[in-house]
Amino acid sequence: MRVLFVTSEVAPLIKTGGLADVSAALPIALRRLGDDVRVLVPGYPQVLKALESFKIEAYFSGIAGFPDARLFTSTLPDGVPLWVLDCPALFQRNGGIYQDETGIDWADNALRFGLLSKVAAIMGGPESPVDWKPQVVHCNDWQTGLTPAYMHFSPGSAPCVMAIHNLAFQGVFPPQTVAELALPAESFHPHGAEYYGNLSFLKAGLYYANHVTTVSPTYAEEIQTEALGFGLQGLLKNRNKSLSGILNGIDASEWNPATDTALVQNYDVKNMAGKLANKLELQQRMGLKVDAEVPLFGLVSRFTHQKGLDIVLEIAPQLISFPAQLVLLGSGDATMQSNAQALARKYPGQVAAVVGFDEVLSHLIEAGADMFLMPSRFEPCGLNQMYSQRYGTPPIVHATGGLLDSVVDCNKVSLANGLASGFIFNKMTAHELLICIQRALQIYHDKNAWPNVRLNGMNKDFGWQKSAAKYHEIYESLTG
Ligand code: ADP
Ligand code: GLC
Repeated sequence: MRVLFVTSEVAPLIKTGGLADVSAALPIALRRLGDDVRVLVPGYPQVLKALESFKIEAYFSGIAGFPDARLFTSTLPDGVPLWVLDCPALFQRNGGIYQDETGIDWADNALRFGLLSKVAAIMGGPESPVDWKPQVVHCNDWQTGLTPAYMHFSPGSAPCVMAIHNLAFQGVFPPQTVAELALPAESFHPHGAEYYGNLSFLKAGLYYANHVTTVSPTYAEEIQTEALGFGLQGLLKNRNKSLSGILNGIDASEWNPATDTALVQNYDVKNMAGKLANKLELQQRMGLKVDAEVPLFGLVSRFTHQKGLDIVLEIAPQLISFPAQLVLLGSGDATMQSNAQALARKYPGQVAAVVGFDEVLSHLIEAGADMFLMPSRFEPCGLNQMYSQRYGTPPIVHATGGLLDSVVDCNKVSLANGLASGFIFNKMTAHELLICIQRALQIYHDKNAWPNVRLNGMNKDFGWQKSAAKYHEIYESLTG
């Protein structure tokens, strides 16, 4: 099965969140199943710089509405074939991939990701200049949402899958964008790409794709409700016969405490001693009091309303009085960043906050913390709670989305049957989080129960195998 996997980020070349991890690991897993998956990503400076060599495969000139572009072929470090969409006018710039240095969305994002969508559609269509012809186009998030729309209006195109990683980001632009991006006027309709008078990239994708997927079974249900449908619940409910929730896996070689080079000492289920060395290292590096006994809580996250950092900051003074320590790593919302830093200044030795994106530190936190905090308001899948279980760092999570599908709450029954792997709280309040943390601390201090909760998580299979097979089945069903 030839699959074109279109994405706006892919690890390790360019990453702002979990989409990059999935775009790296899922194609590998699918290729192991025998599918010929190739990734298409924009040629940001980070991507071009990271590639050792590339070859020009095709030119795209004179596409209505878009500047000229080229397609390079290369490979990702793990050997997955890569297409790079080179268009310096749109992608070669300093700053973030979605936003400028000050955190403002690039004014031409519609054009930038319209081009990505358009080129993917051309590659999946009857007039592709590329010899390799995909049988399925797999789109990811709003940045690729127009691909299904362009393909719908181009007879003879391959079928496409639209994967939702986060419904909160929809790519909504003013109505004149429809003409600017040369979308057929008839697509600008409530039964189409129109969303309350504007053009929605994601809605277009969800409406025109042959199949819609999202990244956990629970999130697939939640997005059909008003609470978490972000205005698209009606459309998603209508499409629910072709909507699948497939839990993400993790890259088990990248996230493996037995081999992880970011750790100061490796460890595994048979030999846990190394975990403590990472805790002491983390405490030392973060300027926390070095203390093997005190429970250390970690958090690694984009700082957005979604992730619930606000309630962590709210309970932090009580948390450290238990006593406990807290280490925070993340970036995003400016107020959240300065609140986290202010907290660390107020409680030196007990709270540490690093603002920024730091892969190595994120691995060390997964390994060195005793427990991992992930109180997301909503979470399509979430990867960190899986990483933390693999690293013997039980997560404390809100009962939502993929967190519910990947963590087993610790109670008498789940402890007895060897499934307990973390702690779940139901109501999204600071108070409920605090109660859940107290419950977790009781188990932490229970020398019989705690090692089991750790090992249960470490022994879980979070690999991609099963989920990749489900994507393959969808491709099969679309291509007959
Ligand atoms: P989301 O995609 O919503 O941000 P996920 O849990 O799916 O959430 O994935 C987040 C990914 O990004 C994880 O691999 C996590 O370790 C990483 N990450 C997030 N923030 C940072 C950061 N500040 N530094 C390093 N890695 C980060
Ligand atoms: C999104 C979601 C996250 C998910 C990731 C990868 O960023 O917020 O929950 O794990 O995509 O699918």
